[in-house]
Amino acid sequence: MKFSHLIDFNDMEKHEFEQICVRAADIRENPSYYADACRGKVMAALFYEPSTRTQFSFQTAMMRLGGVQIGFSDPNSSSVSKGESIKDTVKIVSCYSDIGVVRNPLEGAAFAAGIYSDIPIINAGDGGHLHPTQTMTDLFTIQKEKGRLDNLCIGICGDLLNGRTVHSLLKAFSRHSGNTFYLISTEALKTPAYVTDMLKDTDNKVYEIASIEECIDKLDVLYMTRIQRERFTSLDEYEKQKNVYVLDMKKLSLARKDLCILHPLPKVDEIEDVIDDDPRALYFEQAKNGMYIRMALILKLLERGFSKPDYSGLIVSSNNCENPRCITNHEKYLPHYCKMVDGKSVCAYCDRPI
Ligand code: NCD
Repeated sequence: MKFSHLIDFNDMEKHEFEQICVRAADIRENPSYYADACRGKVMAALFYEPSTRTQFSFQTAMMRLGGVQIGFSDPNSSSVSKGESIKDTVKIVSCYSDIGVVRNPLEGAAFAAGIYSDIPIINAGDGGHLHPTQTMTDLFTIQKEKGRLDNLCIGICGDLLNGRTVHSLLKAFSRHSGNTFYLISTEALKTPAYVTDMLKDTDNKVYEIASIEECIDKLDVLYMTRIQRERFTSLDEYEKQKNVYVLDMKKLSLARKDLCILHPLPKVDEIEDVIDDDPRALYFEQAKNGMYIRMALILKLLERGFSKPDYSGLIVSSNNCENPRCITNHEKYLPHYCKMVDGKSVCAYCDRPI
């Protein structure tokens, strides 16, 4: 299948991702060869939500390919503050640019943008739902460090309820096999069932546990995440959850010498500062890989030319999505597209039951 937008990591076939990884590694080795690859091309970066790494890595990716960038990092500096819909913003941006990057606090926002766009749209994070380019970064880093994406033992710790990087990563691993996942969280911040369900009929094992110490000695990869303060409805609830998990030297002393510690960043208090100097801490390297993988993705999408995806296979439901954070409950003109997954009707924007 040819993917026109990158909304969900699984829009891409496995072999397409492998090609992008080969390209990203080549760009890293031979950057000058790619310096003019996107000369004359414009990328629009629409960041409705704060970002450092994702935004900067997309910007520098385009600049290092010889292209230029327009967009906003604060929606209040654009017509969004006047009430413009994502549909209109995207239609306008499609007139001026060749590729679009969208980050939005609402789930399914990138899918919505894709419906109205005449240029490829890349999802740079849609609320607590998905973050496919972070997943590309994570998988590229794991493959580089461990030489494989199968038969690994992976601990994922922190805010597994709200962390879109976690949801995207687990969804991507549903296409791999033989992995064991230790999902480490408090009861309140457990991985949503719709995400663990994606691994249910695969040859991967999932254990939901409450402490890092229970599994750290077995792990090939420990993926730490921050507690996502901005996704809590009450500050009190956040206060109860913050600082529950802190990776410190004492816990790390139980780990293997070849453990690979990843974090999508930003980190807050969940990793003790001294760990940054431990050779197992690979999160800054991971962030650097993020730029090369985004360069390879931009190139792939621009090289192949855009054709509008066919939405005719989707069902239009008369019911609303049950997820209050789904964009369809905020931008009312959007068709209630849904799709059948394992016999259940789910929202095509946010993957929740409809
Ligand atoms: C993550 C995000 O925005 O989801 N950061 C990133 O893109 N590298 C993780 C986070 O904010 O916790």
